[in-house]
Amino acid sequence: MVVYLVGAGPGDPELVTIKAIKVLKKADVVIYDRLANEKILEEAAGAKLIYVGKKAGVHHKTQDEINQILIHEGQKYDTVVRLKGGDPFVFGRGGEEMLALLENGIEVEVVPGVTSAIGVPGTIGLPVTHRGVATSFTVVTGHEDPTKAESQVKWDFNADTIIVLMGIGNLEENVQEILKYKDPETPVCIIENGTMPGQRIVTGALGDIAQKNVQPPALVIIGPVVDVYNQMKNSGSN
Ligand SMILES: C[S@@+](CC[C@H](N)C(=O)[O-])C[C@H]1O[C@@H](n2cnc3c(N)ncnc32)[C@H](O)[C@@H]1O
Repeated sequence: MVVYLVGAGPGDPELVTIKAIKVLKKADVVIYDRLANEKILEEAAGAKLIYVGKKAGVHHKTQDEINQILIHEGQKYDTVVRLKGGDPFVFGRGGEEMLALLENGIEVEVVPGVTSAIGVPGTIGLPVTHRGVATSFTVVTGHEDPTKAESQVKWDFNADTIIVLMGIGNLEENVQEILKYKDPETPVCIIENGTMPGQRIVTGALGDIAQKNVQPPALVIIGPVVDVYNQMKNSGSN
């Protein structure tokens, strides 16, 4: 009895790993969140599918409830797949689920996925590091759990590239924080629905990006690597 924590990648079904497809094909049960692309579930023909993601206007499962479902199914079936967008350990709460399963004596195997944080910019020709331009990057949440007693996000990052996930709802507030440490001219790129048919790319500067009309799911990439992307685009490689 194994529960596989599997990353489904950022949306394009061709960005799913061979290992992910192998475990989906033999799955008895697949427990999944809202995925950028549900086509991936077709690999699990015959498996019991359990949706535990959010739906507008409907009560969604708490993390404790999801953990209980995982434990229950993990005790009952040989092959359980817990499928998550991107990589399960990048803002996916995969670590919490793994701990809950291990504490209940259930074997866990992790199948990493292409995280949207790096994979999505990569597909448009935006490198998160670039020789002579950026030697470091940080990936941060733009939306912390409001029940936390104190914010854990300190915006004074020293990294050359800042990649914000879940950053659209609080874009204006987050930009105000980053502007305390970065120049308003710092280039910014926002990628909506990365790797999907509705993909949209918006560029600007830190000082004006909050005025642009952008919709989730989207990534916000801040730093001089965005100029490298513009250079790639103008060179006709994208
Ligand atoms: C809860 S986090 C999960 C991240 C995921 N585990 C990963 O590694 O990509 C969801 C956020 O990831 C980003 N995201 C995921 N897929 C995306 C996509 N296809 N295009 C743009 N952003 C995406 C968005 O910022 C979204 O709000």
